[in-house]
Amino acid sequence: MERTYIMLKPETVKRGLMGEIISRIERKQFKITSMKMMILDEPILREHYAHIADKPFFPEIVANMTSGPVVAMIVEGEDVVQGMRNIMGPTKWLEAPAGTIRGDFANNTGMNLIHGSDSVENAEIEIKRFFGNV
Ligand code: TYD
Ligand code: MG
Repeated sequence: MERTYIMLKPETVKRGLMGEIISRIERKQFKITSMKMMILDEPILREHYAHIADKPFFPEIVANMTSGPVVAMIVEGEDVVQGMRNIMGPTKWLEAPAGTIRGDFANNTGMNLIHGSDSVENAEIEIKRFFGNV
């Protein structure tokens, strides 16, 4: 069974949207097999977001992502990596169609509510980064 790393960003917790988003994952019949709240620091974000760490908007991402707890999850299911990307919607909030998490609730690309791994290979790396060897 495929698995992916999902993370609800701090604004999701602050806005009281954890339940809404977890409910969408469950309604899709994906299985949440691990879940924890945690506070991230800049070093782990530099690692997790290495592909955007040199972008001008990165300091703002760090500020947002360290502004409160995140909810880290391992989610399992058939084709769950792409399946979760589909229910999340595209990165840029303006491109995210209604009916997707980002399309329905985000109005800022830097605060787009949810992270989901972009490949099976990265999912395993990210699960290891945030949950260790599980
Ligand atoms: P990325 O991994 O490209 O997107 P995704 O989260 O959809 O996999 O980028 C990581 C995060 O960086 C993204 O969720 C929000 C932020 N970001 C911006 O604020 N502006 C941008 O132009 C991009 C590409 C990303
Ligand atoms: Mg990404």
